[in-house]
Amino acid sequence: MEDRDALLKKKVQRTVEVLPAKELAKLDEVIARYAGKAGHLIPALKDAQEMYGYLPMEVQHRIADGLHVSPSHVYGVVTFYSFFTIMPRGRHTIRLCLGTACYVKGSKEILETIVREVGINVGETSQDGRFTIEAVRCLGACGLAPVMMIGEDTHGNVDPKDTLRIIQAYE
Ligand code: FES
Repeated sequence: MEDRDALLKKKVQRTVEVLPAKELAKLDEVIARYAGKAGHLIPALKDAQEMYGYLPMEVQHRIADGLHVSPSHVYGVVTFYSFFTIMPRGRHTIRLCLGTACYVKGSKEILETIVREVGINVGETSQDGRFTIEAVRCLGACGLAPVMMIGEDTHGNVDPKDTLRIIQAYE
């Protein structure tokens, strides 16, 4: 049975070349900045994600090669930390709280409206690149329940009936 690294390598080879040579050169600069330094992987991944908006397999694989770590280790780190994403994100990330305080005040209804109107599920990005939906456990603003964030904007005390009006303001 093939090990995880071999499987990941095959997956990368199947991936369409997503980055032109110029972009790869920028990534190589990031890698060179961190190569040989302790604790280098997470900062390198953060810089790469800032550049591309997400961490496709091709980028993960190049970082693994450049920093001399296994692709499976890179993939494990990327999938462990919620601030990393392997999927392209929409222009606006809707983060809806499904924590207890928000849930009892209607966040499930808000989520259902968003999923229905945007046409995607939690963790997905709309085809037009407008929205990515995330469900979170607490946004640290329980006094404003139910709460959702769209990008950097916090919307508190959201009336589920206002959900559509709120998201329509984001093009
Ligand atoms: S439970 Fe929703 S903000 Fe804390």
